[in-house]
Amino acid sequence: MAKILVTGGAGYIGTHGVLSLQRAGFEVLILDNLVYGHRNLVESVLGAELIVGDTGDRPLLDRIFATHNITAVMHFAAYAYVGESVHDPAKYYRNNVVGTLTLLEAMLAADVRQFVFSSTCATYGIPQEVPIPETHPQSPINPYGASKLMVERILADLSAIGALRYVSFRYFNAAGAEPDGSLGEDHHPETHLIPLVLLTALGLRPAITIFGTDYPTPDGTCIRDYIHVSDLATAHVLGLKYLLDGHPSDVFNLGNGLGFSVQQVVEMARRVTQRPIPVILGDRRAGDPPALVGSSAKARERLHWQPQYADLETILTHAWQWHQHRHG
Ligand SMILES: NC(=O)c1ccc[n+]([C@@H]2O[C@H](COP(=O)([O-])OP(=O)(O)OC[C@H]3O[C@@H](n4cnc5c(N)ncnc54)[C@H](O)[C@@H]3O)[C@@H](O)[C@H]2O)c1
Repeated sequence: MAKILVTGGAGYIGTHGVLSLQRAGFEVLILDNLVYGHRNLVESVLGAELIVGDTGDRPLLDRIFATHNITAVMHFAAYAYVGESVHDPAKYYRNNVVGTLTLLEAMLAADVRQFVFSSTCATYGIPQEVPIPETHPQSPINPYGASKLMVERILADLSAIGALRYVSFRYFNAAGAEPDGSLGEDHHPETHLIPLVLLTALGLRPAITIFGTDYPTPDGTCIRDYIHVSDLATAHVLGLKYLLDGHPSDVFNLGNGLGFSVQQVVEMARRVTQRPIPVILGDRRAGDPPALVGSSAKARERLHWQPQYADLETILTHAWQWHQHRHG
């Protein structure tokens, strides 16, 4: 059974990725520094082996690769707060770029040459066309997006000299939770719309602020592409198998191709939760494009990826089950 090193495997998307790998028959070793990860989910739900440590710790990485027979690395570990990245860019370049480079160097030294990377739609910046294809110019508008683009370039250059093969996934907005409610989103601080709306429904936040109601969209609020985290996880297993089958390096968007406005999310959340969700109408935030929707046609075609939970009601229902389980 192939053993996969999953960095950031104790985080939101990483835990779902680990579960999908386990279901597909892979053995998993998690490396997570637990700055944001959840040891309890790894121990109680996944039962996977966890090494608490950092991707920037080269001696630790060398020990891991020397003592485990790792076939490939799935790299979720990163800092991912856009606002924080603007105020503390060095923190993001150190963790997301230097940490990843250290990991890549350790991998290559140990002759591990297959890599699946969590990139982001934030590498595109302000879209010139929607839905955004993978060929869209990449011009990030914040250090977080820039840090991910730098890693994409490092990977392309290493791949060009035959040092490794990789799949980079540019995700749109990850949302939802494992359908049985056992895993889900628990960021501290939370900045994502769907958990914020559901925490408001639970009475744990007083209201949800909608930033901007005068965008050129049908209801004036921003449109985003929400992709179910379990569908993201499935795509990672397909991407890994694609590499294991010998395919060349490639880059895929992962979104559901459907945009939903902030207003639509709030209305659907009221329907799913049957709870009041007070809203505050705020001003636009700098740097928020009116619509961010991805085309995932390439992943569907080449990886045969078929998202199972594309509709907003299902995404919100699963997220709500998780939040009730977590906070109930
Ligand atoms: N959540 C989204 O909508 C979204 C969208 C696009 C891309 N991404 C990317 O997906 C990945 C996972 O995001 P998430 O939402 O699950 O975030 P998360 O914070 O829940 O998970 C990241 C995990 O990585 C760990 N980590 C961070 N730096 C580390 C390091 N140097 N060494 C070891 N562990 C480290 C954290 O403790 C955490 O468990 C990130 O790379 C993020 O940039 C997320």
